[in-house]
Amino acid sequence: MTVTVLGASGRTGRRVVRLLVRHGFRVRAGVRDRHRRAAVTGLGVPAVITDLAGDPAELVEAFAGSDVVVNCAGAPDPAPAAVNLIDRDGAIAAIRSAERAGVRRYVQLSAMFADAPDQGDPLVRSILAAKQISDTVLRRSSLVWTVVRAATLTDEPGTGRITAVEHLTAGRIPRDDVAAVILGCLLEAGTENRGFDVRSGELAVAAALAALR
Ligand SMILES: NC(=O)c1ccc[n+]([C@@H]2O[C@H](COP(=O)([O-])OP(=O)(O)OC[C@H]3O[C@@H](n4cnc5c(N)ncnc54)[C@H](OP(=O)(O)O)[C@@H]3O)[C@@H](O)[C@H]2O)c1
Repeated sequence: MTVTVLGASGRTGRRVVRLLVRHGFRVRAGVRDRHRRAAVTGLGVPAVITDLAGDPAELVEAFAGSDVVVNCAGAPDPAPAAVNLIDRDGAIAAIRSAERAGVRRYVQLSAMFADAPDQGDPLVRSILAAKQISDTVLRRSSLVWTVVRAATLTDEPGTGRITAVEHLTAGRIPRDDVAAVILGCLLEAGTENRGFDVRSGELAVAAALAALR
């Protein structure tokens, strides 16, 4: 199975690429532009240019032959112009391009409270509002989708133990464990056409995802 990971140069994206490779997936590392190829050379997979703010026709071309797209890209800061460009319009362009390219499965890394931005941290409300829109577009697309709404991300080592449920109100989760959740989504059919919140917790990733059925 071939998976294209968007934002593969990012802190979560790199972890997702490494984990998917370790589990036998053929992975393409999506990078913003050719200058960012160097950021993924150590991952040992081919790089493809997937600029979410670029020409959607190039995204369609980059996705050709992929069974799965995983979107781990995000704006570098909560400035509304940047998040609307990347987390809203860019994410939507990627979803539409995946449909056109014949991709079957799509996993979007979103954020806790993206389904209710008014209840989230006011400091990141622009990001939540942008993701709410692109998450909705994905849910209504023709793709087999999963929206992973992660709690606050950390760089602490993963524990492999999570809580994954419809709605959470607070929490943190290591990026290592988010990568394990994204891998788990590709292994657990019960995550298809589902969105859920996730944070560090008590259950092993596979068990927590199976319990979503
Ligand atoms: N921070 C949190 O607590 C939190 C919580 C929940 C969810 N999230 C979400 O989780 C995701 C991953 O977060 P992270 O902290 O791992 O991200 P990160 O390290 O900031 O990486 C972001 C990635 O997005 C890429 N990107 C930026 N603009 C792009 C464009 N125009 N086209 C294609 N790719 C582009 C970046 O590429 P370059 O390397 O070239 O810049 C980078 O690979 C984001 O969507 C974020 O909003 C974050």
